[in-house]
Amino acid sequence: MDKLVSLCKRKGFIFQSSAIYGGVNGCWDFGPLGVELKRNLKDDWWYNFVQIRDDIVGLDASIIMHPDVWKASGHVDAFHDVVVDCTECKHRFREDHLEADKCPDCGGKLTEPMQFNSMLKTQLGVNEATAMETYLRPETCQSIFVNFKEVYSSCRTKVPFGIAQVGKAFRNEVNPRNFIFRSREFEQMEIEFFCKEEDEEEWFEKWQAEIWSWYLRLGLPEEKMRWFEHPKEALAHYSKRTVDVEYNFPFGWGELQGLANRGTFDLKAHSEASGKDLSFFDQQANERFVPTVLEPSAGADRATLAVLCAAYTEEEVKGEQRIVMKLAPKLAPTKAAILPLVKKDGIADIAKDLEKKLRRKFTTYYDQAGAIGRRYRRQDEVGTPFCICVDYDTKEDNTVTVRERDSMEQVRMPIDEVAAYIEPKVSFDHEA
Ligand code: GAP
Repeated sequence: MDKLVSLCKRKGFIFQSSAIYGGVNGCWDFGPLGVELKRNLKDDWWYNFVQIRDDIVGLDASIIMHPDVWKASGHVDAFHDVVVDCTECKHRFREDHLEADKCPDCGGKLTEPMQFNSMLKTQLGVNEATAMETYLRPETCQSIFVNFKEVYSSCRTKVPFGIAQVGKAFRNEVNPRNFIFRSREFEQMEIEFFCKEEDEEEWFEKWQAEIWSWYLRLGLPEEKMRWFEHPKEALAHYSKRTVDVEYNFPFGWGELQGLANRGTFDLKAHSEASGKDLSFFDQQANERFVPTVLEPSAGADRATLAVLCAAYTEEEVKGEQRIVMKLAPKLAPTKAAILPLVKKDGIADIAKDLEKKLRRKFTTYYDQAGAIGRRYRRQDEVGTPFCICVDYDTKEDNTVTVRERDSMEQVRMPIDEVAAYIEPKVSFDHEA
């Protein structure tokens, strides 16, 4: 994990937030490569779960919502962690994260367990005396429930159907830890899927299969994934059943995403609290009902961390160590690096010209500094799937060498064919 964290900082994937001021615990910044990687992952999620499906539509709602939303959803009363404080060093811990009944930092005595609400409060309004106190949303899904009727009547969709959203969520986590695994500001990719109660088990199974397959297609090794079924007595206040996909991170097994059967809890709670009917009218069957909700809820940061962990590889090549990020090409921040063998004799100009053309199709990087072997290694370390070398022969016959990251195999091809060769291999529908 330390090696990965250091690579992420060194290469511009992920930085500590506000590092020059000493950092903010639980907040992270995605640098030039990190933002590309995470955006590719979110776009791939959207491609798979919204774009190519005919039963899911999208939403992008505001982060700040009416405070009554959080009362009705149960978050004001029930979004609690059970915490204990150390009576000596005053550090606070989640009770379920402790291994002994002493402070893990100083060995001091701990207080009795207390409830701690982990929503982040904020104020909306220009006058402090009259400003409305509300929260930064702790999950993206509540805006889906609140907009349920607007969405289905504007799109004329019919149950079964889903609403998907990708966006920021905030939790005042007691112990943010394990790099971007548990942060205070993070991104969720959530679907609320509305179906009839009698179909809930069938859809639950379908969603389990869809979710599992998506993570495999991101390049996660199946032997590092498992399902965890939440015991009935530990279910969240809204849930009839929850299973998690867990990933075996370097620090141990951790939740990647959940799949919950939320039943009719949320739509009924918001109907009651707002006085607005959130039921669905099935014209064909001439019946009105409150749909059951299945919720595949994923974390963009956790999925990004998992693909980074799975990709990090150390190999020995011709007696030398090679660090290579074996990222799925569709996720790689840079798809192709264009490397002139030498700067002189017009070779760099051909390479620059090629890069200019290719960057309109996919992300590229131009590098003419240092020995070609070192430049390949630099690209391996950030997961660039293709390196294109322009050399003296290019001037003679208009061909270039394309080197593939994992096999390190090189193929010679006409310069005009490079874009068509690479493009399908880095697209979202390319099956690795
Ligand atoms: N709407 C349901 C919900 O929010 P959750 O299990 O609390 O369920 C869903 O969160 C997903 O959001 C998690 O599986 C995880 O991927 C991500 N997530 C939750 N808390 C997080 C945190 N503090 N830091 C990073 N990701 C988090």
